Amino acid sequence: MRRNIVHSGADALIYEIRQIVAIGKKIEALGVTMTWENIGDPIQKGEKIAPWIKEIVKDLVEEDTSWGYTATQGDSHTRKFLAEKVNQRGGASITDEDIFFFNGLGDAVAKIFGFMRREARILGPSPAYSTLSSAEAAHSGYEHLTYDLLPEKGWMPDLEDIENKVKYNDSIAGILLINPDNPTGAVYPKSMMEEIVAICEKYDCMLICDETYAHVNYSDTGSIHLSEVIGDKVCGMALRSISKEFPWPGGRCGWIEVFNKKRDPNFERYIKSLLDAKMLEVCSTTLPQLSIPKVYSHPNFLNHLKERNEMFKERARIATSYFDNMKGVQVVEPKGAFYLTVYFPPGVLKNNMELPIQNKAVDDYIQSILTNASEDRRLVLYLLASTGICVVPLTSFCCDKHGFRVTLLETDTEKFHWVFKTLRDSIAKYLESGKS
Ligand SMILES: Cc1ncc(COP(=O)(O)O)c(C=O)c1O
Repeated sequence: MRRNIVHSGADALIYEIRQIVAIGKKIEALGVTMTWENIGDPIQKGEKIAPWIKEIVKDLVEEDTSWGYTATQGDSHTRKFLAEKVNQRGGASITDEDIFFFNGLGDAVAKIFGFMRREARILGPSPAYSTLSSAEAAHSGYEHLTYDLLPEKGWMPDLEDIENKVKYNDSIAGILLINPDNPTGAVYPKSMMEEIVAICEKYDCMLICDETYAHVNYSDTGSIHLSEVIGDKVCGMALRSISKEFPWPGGRCGWIEVFNKKRDPNFERYIKSLLDAKMLEVCSTTLPQLSIPKVYSHPNFLNHLKERNEMFKERARIATSYFDNMKGVQVVEPKGAFYLTVYFPPGVLKNNMELPIQNKAVDDYIQSILTNASEDRRLVLYLLASTGICVVPLTSFCCDKHGFRVTLLETDTEKFHWVFKTLRDSIAKYLESGKS
C-alpha cells in the first residue's frame, strides 16, 4: 500500500469478552466441556423470554409498518413516551427531541466517540466495559484515560482521582460513569453521583452515564438515573438499552437521552452531528423501538423487573458467599447488573502458579499460549483448561488490577453452584501451587 490505511486507533479495538471464546473453542475441540461465563447474554445462558413480551412482538410482526424505516432519530411515539417517563421521575426535563435511537448501545458508543473531536477526551472508569474504553482510545489514538474504581471501597469511584485528572488535563471534555457498573456490579448512591455532577459543573465538562443496567438493580436504594441528579447546569447523556432488561440483546435497540443540550452551543452542535451521522444510515431497528411503549406500560412489566432483580440478588448473594473468608481473594457482592468480579490484591497471583490439566493436548496448547500472559490471564487460561469455565481477565477491562469477571446468568441452579464451587476450589488450589 503506498499509503498507510490503518487507523491510528486500530490497536485499541480489543474485546476480550469475545476474543477469549476463540481459545475456549479450541479447548472444546480438544474434548473439554465448556461453561461459558464470559458474556452478558441472558438468552445464551437459558433465560426464557416472558410470553407476554413475545405476544407484543408477535402482534407487531403482523403490522406492516413494523417492517418499514422509521424516523432517523427514532419512532416519534416511542420517543414521546420515553421523554414522558424521564419527566415523571422529577429532575431534568426533556422532550422527544432529546432522545436518539441507535442499533443498540454498541452503535451509539461508536457514534459518540467516532464523531467527537479527536483532541477531546472522555475520562472513564477502570476497570471499564471494554466497548466504551476501546472506542474512546481508538477515537483519540492514545490509551484510554481512566479514573480508579476502588475495590476496598466497594468499587466506588475515586473522586479525588477524578477531580485531579480533570483539573490538570484540560483535554478532558467529559466524565463517563457506568451505573450499575459492568464489570463490578456496583451501584452508585445519589450523593456520589451528585459529587460527580458538581465536578463536571466546576470544570465545565459533560457527563455521560451508561444506564444499560438501570433496571437490573437489586440494591436497597434502587436506580438513580442521571436525569435525577444532573440539574440544569451540566450537559449530559444517559445511555439506555433494552438488551439486558427485556432482555433482548439481539434486538439491537438502544437510545440516548440528552440533557441540557441548549446550555452550550458546542454540545448542541455535537449532538446534531450524531443525528446527521445516523441520517447517513437512514434509521435504527424499527420493530424493537415500537415494542418499548407496549412493554413498559404492560401491567406485568414492573413485576417482571422485580422478579428478575430478586433472582439476581439471590444469585449475587450465593456467588459471593462462595468466596467468604478466602485468603488473598476479594469479592464485593454485586448490587446491580449481572456480573461479579473476583479481585486479587497485588502480589497474590504469581507466574509459577498452575492447575492440573487432565487432557495432554489441552495442556500442550495452554503451555504454548502462556508466555507473556498477565498474571490474571494466566489464571483464566488455567481455569479454562482445567475446569472448562470461561471467564474474562480483569486486566482486559482497561485495568492494571488483577482478577476476573464471571456472570450471574447460569439458569440451572445446580450448575450455578457447581460453577462457583469449582471456581473457589480451583483458585484455592492455584494459590496453593505457588507455595511449593
Ligand atoms: C455497560 C454496557 N454498555 C453498553 C453495552 C452494549 O449494549 P447493547 O446491547 O445495547 O449494544 C453493554 C453490553 O454488554 C454494557 O454492558
